[in-house]
Amino acid sequence: PNTQSVKFARVPHPSPLPAAKRAELLKNPGFGRVFTDHMVTIHYSDAEGWHDAKIEPRAPIPMDPAAAVLHYAQEIFEGLKAYRTADGGATLFRPEENARRFQQSAKRLAMPILPESVFLEACDLLVSTDRAWIPDGDGSLYLRPFMFANENFLGVKPSSGYLFMVIASSVGSYFKTDAPAVSVWVSTEYTRAAPGGTGAAKCGGNYAASLLAQAEATKHGCDQVVFLDAVEQRWIEELGGMNVFFVFDDGSLSTPPLGGTILPGITRSSLITLAKDKGIKVREERYSIDQWRTDAGTGRLREAFACGTAAVVTPIGTVRSKDGEFKIGNGGSGAKTEELKAALVGIQRSRAPDPHGWIHKV
Ligand code: PLP
Ligand code: COI
Repeated sequence: PNTQSVKFARVPHPSPLPAAKRAELLKNPGFGRVFTDHMVTIHYSDAEGWHDAKIEPRAPIPMDPAAAVLHYAQEIFEGLKAYRTADGGATLFRPEENARRFQQSAKRLAMPILPESVFLEACDLLVSTDRAWIPDGDGSLYLRPFMFANENFLGVKPSSGYLFMVIASSVGSYFKTDAPAVSVWVSTEYTRAAPGGTGAAKCGGNYAASLLAQAEATKHGCDQVVFLDAVEQRWIEELGGMNVFFVFDDGSLSTPPLGGTILPGITRSSLITLAKDKGIKVREERYSIDQWRTDAGTGRLREAFACGTAAVVTPIGTVRSKDGEFKIGNGGSGAKTEELKAALVGIQRSRAPDPHGWIHKV
């Protein structure tokens, strides 16, 4: 039922959080702890397809202890941001891409395909209903669409029922550090995804598998973990929750190629386009940890940065592993990183023209 449409019932919140309390929360929201008043829910069953769509007060969801997701982790999610506009409206950045990636993730996890139009309508409805929760200034409203298996059955097979939801969180920057650049820990013990696995899908299981490596990164004083490929333990893939780019002394960029083991980031794809617009050469090619260390030492590598919806564009200043530590450039940010970040954020926040039609008005 890929073209199926749904009709949303609207259940307004009987007692939304008072404006003064909301304003207090929005002063310094951090990331992922402040939630809005409403949520979207849409049910799916093999018999009825998508049905019972609602925007309703945000509340706990009753769940049977035998619900399939609790046992076999059949769950996928997305992440995208809504921005406040000066004219009293709101925008989303390339939400169609999130809708399509959600469909690809669903396919990989043997889940039903949510029509793109329904995904978009669900996001629009939540943003327009809870627009007051979009912070001013540098903040945004992070939308978290997700879907999980809720058939009550312990046999291992695709569930016959699912719940799709969207919740929203008022956010500031993802990293707590005030430092000009983040530090990363190269995991040589754990990998994230192997060929044929779920690396290209945005499923909860990938993140569960990353937590021990991320905890190791934290233990070594680093902000994020870098994963190497699972076959040779040599090629840089991505960070725990973001893609990675390298900037060279000839002004060119490189980023690891999409080969099924890394997440096809929408920020990554947007930055490739923006760099090419500026006449910057971008290679999607494999880059090894040994090369990274060597190039940082000789100065051939000038900058490196992480990118993603949550991280936007974040410079990487220090790389640490069991073999020691090296700095990138001066250990802070670099000119190309800042130029690309400004170009991206300018479009996302409607301060610059939108030549590629990436801005979706809510
Ligand atoms: N890689 C991983 C593992 C992620 O979790 C994310 C965040 O969504 C990204 C990359 C970047 O993807 P996007 O730019 O679409 O947010
Ligand atoms: C995002 O950038 O949307 C992510 O999913 C990264 C992390 C918060 C899981």
